[in-house]
Amino acid sequence: MSNYHIKSLEEYFQVYRKSVNDPELFWSEIAEEHFTWRKHWNNVFSWDFSIPEVKWFEGAELNITENCLDRHLHIRGEKTAIIFEPNDPEEETEYITYNQLHKRVCTFANVLKDEGVKKGDRVCIYLPMIPELAIAVLACARIGAIHSVVFAGFSSTALSTRINDCDAKMVITSDGSFRGKKITNLKGIVDDALKESPGVKTVLVAKRTNNKIKMKKKRDKWLQPLLDSAYTDCSSEVMDAEDPLFILYTSGSTGKPKGMMHTTAGYMVYAGYTFKNVFNYTENDVYWCTADIGWITGHTYIVYGPLLNGATTVMFEGVPSYPDYGRFWQIIEEHKVNQFYTAPTAIRALAKEDLEYTAKYDLSSLKVLGSVGEPINEEAWHWYNENIGKKKSPIVDTWWQTETGGILISPIPYVTPTTPTFATLPLPGIQPALMDSEGKELKGNQVEGNLCVKFPWPAIARTIWGNHDRYRDTYFSAYPGMYFTGDGAMRDEVGYYRITGRVDDVIIVSGHNLGTAPIEDAINEHMEVAESAIVGATHEIKGNSLYGFITLKPSANGKDRDELRLEINRMISERIGPIAKLDKIQFTEGLPKTRSGKIMRRILRKVANKDTNDLGDTSTLLNPEVVKNIINEAL
Ligand code: WT7
Repeated sequence: MSNYHIKSLEEYFQVYRKSVNDPELFWSEIAEEHFTWRKHWNNVFSWDFSIPEVKWFEGAELNITENCLDRHLHIRGEKTAIIFEPNDPEEETEYITYNQLHKRVCTFANVLKDEGVKKGDRVCIYLPMIPELAIAVLACARIGAIHSVVFAGFSSTALSTRINDCDAKMVITSDGSFRGKKITNLKGIVDDALKESPGVKTVLVAKRTNNKIKMKKKRDKWLQPLLDSAYTDCSSEVMDAEDPLFILYTSGSTGKPKGMMHTTAGYMVYAGYTFKNVFNYTENDVYWCTADIGWITGHTYIVYGPLLNGATTVMFEGVPSYPDYGRFWQIIEEHKVNQFYTAPTAIRALAKEDLEYTAKYDLSSLKVLGSVGEPINEEAWHWYNENIGKKKSPIVDTWWQTETGGILISPIPYVTPTTPTFATLPLPGIQPALMDSEGKELKGNQVEGNLCVKFPWPAIARTIWGNHDRYRDTYFSAYPGMYFTGDGAMRDEVGYYRITGRVDDVIIVSGHNLGTAPIEDAINEHMEVAESAIVGATHEIKGNSLYGFITLKPSANGKDRDELRLEINRMISERIGPIAKLDKIQFTEGLPKTRSGKIMRRILRKVANKDTNDLGDTSTLLNPEVVKNIINEAL
């Protein structure tokens, strides 16, 4: 039996049982056999969810970059670590070997030191998806600085809020970014942000777009000349297991963003372990995750997880629609990608386009497809399975969160039989629980409730930066002794989990609990529907009625709208029941999305309830123009 790389369902059940019955043995074997330590731990873990306090590998000393880089050099130094695929397909791809990456990280780390960055300092990274982003992250980890990457699509206000919250002294950015046809002056956004963030003393600027930017004397420095004159050797800082590795902000349902703090050893072990299993990664595979490193998906499954396993990881700078809707598939063909990991929102957008775009490319290298970020609807699942995986590549529907650090519930490809829209089974070490509204655990199968985790795993966030009370209140108070995820889930008759969505998205109509996801699934199966979102609108008699926002495919042009409304409701009736029929259907040209691709239901809820005077925080909104139209056209 191999703990580390699970190869059969029988083995999965054995390993899972071991991880529950003897977690100390299970995790210490993995940590010992597959990672490099400067000093061994005294204690595998200790925990108390009531404080809450969790510690893993206490007493151990290590540096995560030695595990990502140094230890690979003598076996795979000349192997490609990062394939950088630029926005413009005409620009040359960059292949960075492990030797080169090691050298570039060490050099960058020396620049940070030269600029006065020390262990424990916070460094804010605001960069596009260029190699410097991964290198800056690793350079921080090399010297024990705490990186806080802010997605380079965030506004100056959002950026400055995050800088101030963690009190970063340095920002690393670039002159600009290329995304499709769009060039954004990132440095200008940083300049605006820093008007509200006087604590930042140094700004390092990487050159990417060559557009003209302002450089503030003393504060702003071009990165390249500093790299050119820095030493290329840099020994790594020895870190304690529980020293912070990074802070990453995630938006809460209320209040300011939460700076989730992850620590070194547990995060490392979990990132490495889950990457290996969930993607069935084997040496010489080429792996591509389309997320941005500004999100947890990019941290764990573009940078740390792949590099810990000595993998080749693709970094893509651009967007799926540039120069045309075939770009993803062209990249898969070009680099013979074996594992492809993307989000349902991207899948739906691409599924709207002509099949010619997928048919044109050779996708036969693919072995595993991944999905993350939201429940994947049936229609998207089948499109992905048929047109991209050609029914040969298992789809891993991976459920996790910024807070969990790594994937918690997912099929293991070629091991766990998949079922559309099911994240299936917990990974070893993960003990999920479903809770009812009275706070009791729902045992057995065929139950639905709020999803909690009742035992710690190595990569759980340790706190919200600067606000441990909020951490406790948000995650550990609803169900004492458990971590509450904020999601609802059902467990079917074989024990598979299906994530039904945020529990705040449940709508109660005439006393019936209706999950939005299954209704949206039903709507999306209509031939003319591209995407949909439903929210609750207050209703005199039923409590709530259902209000649907639906975008149609171009093929719906000229069709009678009322006829379409009838057809959609007929489909819902058929799939779920008349109770789930929509009272109102508003056709829109788009849905309000966050920059990470999530539908902003909060705004739609306000529209449905005719309460649009104050939309609340819209700083993460990707497409404000869509919102204006939706409000104007509200029913
Ligand atoms: C929330 C976490 C962690 C990756 C990116 C998102 C939803 C995530 C799935 C999935 C259904 C999913 C949950 C979760 N979610 N993956 N496979 N199926 N829902 O990270 O921004 O922290 O969001 O995304 O609602 O709580 P995040």
